[in-house]
Amino acid sequence: MKHLTSLVLFGAAVVALVSAAGTEGEISFEYHRYEELRKALVSVWLQCPTITRIYTIGESFEGRELLVLEMTDNPGTHEPGEPEFKYIANMHGNEAVGRELLIYLAQYLCNQYQQGNETVIDLVHNTRIHFMPSMNPDGFEKAASQPGEIKDWFVGRSNAQGVDLNRNFPDLDRIIYINEREGGANNHLLQNMKKAVDENTKLAPETKAVIHWIMDIPFVLSANLHGGDVVANYPYDETRTGSTHEYSSSPDDVMFKSLARAYSIYNPVMSDPNRAPCRKNDDDSSFKDGITNGGAWYSVPGGMQDFNYLSSNCFEITLELSCDKFPNEDTLKSYWEQNRNSLVNYIEQVHRGVKGFVRDLQGNPISNASISVEGIDHDITTAKDGDYWRLLAPGNYKVAASAPGYLTVIKKVAVPYSPATRLQGWFFSSQALGGSGTTTIQLERSHITIPMTPKLFS
Ligand SMILES: *[C@@H]1O[C@H](CO)[C@@H](O)[C@H](O)[C@H]1NC(C)=O
Ligand SMILES: *[C@@H]1O[C@H](CO)[C@@H](O)[C@H](O)[C@H]1NC(C)=O
Ligand SMILES: [Zn+2]
Repeated sequence: MKHLTSLVLFGAAVVALVSAAGTEGEISFEYHRYEELRKALVSVWLQCPTITRIYTIGESFEGRELLVLEMTDNPGTHEPGEPEFKYIANMHGNEAVGRELLIYLAQYLCNQYQQGNETVIDLVHNTRIHFMPSMNPDGFEKAASQPGEIKDWFVGRSNAQGVDLNRNFPDLDRIIYINEREGGANNHLLQNMKKAVDENTKLAPETKAVIHWIMDIPFVLSANLHGGDVVANYPYDETRTGSTHEYSSSPDDVMFKSLARAYSIYNPVMSDPNRAPCRKNDDDSSFKDGITNGGAWYSVPGGMQDFNYLSSNCFEITLELSCDKFPNEDTLKSYWEQNRNSLVNYIEQVHRGVKGFVRDLQGNPISNASISVEGIDHDITTAKDGDYWRLLAPGNYKVAASAPGYLTVIKKVAVPYSPATRLQGWFFSSQALGGSGTTTIQLERSHITIPMTPKLFS
């Protein structure tokens, strides 16, 4: 995750360019080729330098940088307790709308932040947001290079090696489906396979870079932006039996539906119950309220969405944003208008559920402790500072924190009915007694306090 030092020098020229054109602070509703994408991100950074940072997670097969714009109050570091969010677009290089929407979103949030919009300031100060407008810059250049406005349905979908990146991730679904039947880990399934991943020559450089990114940052929530249809798609994408269409629920089915709905509800086209299918013969029978289970729509092995959930703490959904994969430039503004509120609202979902710290009685963080929820067979783990975020739909839960050498602590918690409630100040604190093999637990607090903070969206 090296810094883009070259961009710093490059920036000065852009400042001149931007102010000369008088476009600072405005959204440019046009397609951005590779160099233009870089410039657009740099100009956001120049406009909002205190809350942004540009970095790269690696290079594409043809050597283009996989650029990320980070937006938060202290760019460059994980702040203990602050959740991390990511948007990734254009992994299919010819699916261009998401790539542009992420550029516009970065420009919009920077503008709103500067204009003192309280909602946006609150979001930026309490969340570390990462935007990757293109995971497949080579494919995009190939798709965009076609002459004329009508683009081929497939040209540029794969990376420059011909690899479909959304079929290229390690197939952890097959492992979880075995573990469900025979017992075994229900999370972090890549734990002992990292070396194998690095050495696997079937994995594209773009895929490897994203795998490392997912492993390195404690992401909580993510979405992966596509085109070719209009729906919010949630795990699992790969079916249990291998059949083409089959509802494939994950243990977090309730929460995933709610997350997908949090996107579709603000998009008038996606949530329109009378929307005609994109093409006459499309089978949209699994779509309801603008959302669908992935497997129920069609099975995708080796996808990025399920990989996030099964290899890390990150919940990811897949957003299909437009019937046309590469629509005419003059429609981009209307896609922005359809998706703007959804894009912001979805980021806000990262604050739902329960969050806090796991610490010992001396206050030392316990990393890699498991957070389990009774009735949901998918644990998440604490990050380096003992901080955790457990996305949960409204309801009453029994939540347990456990770590080797410590007695398990169980707490009851109520997650209120509200689209974006932030829960704070919830600590697990446990004491380990070494040596004898027995452990005792003492709680620092005898009750849980869950102060409510104001809703960001009513
Ligand atoms: C502030 O930003 C939010 C989120 O995008 C938006 O809904 C709201 O309209 C903005 N407020 C103003 C005054 O522009
Ligand atoms: C995290 O904890 C799990 C379960 O206790 C263990 O299997 C795994 O090796 C640990 N990982 C690290 C990186 O310590
Ligand atoms: Zn796609």
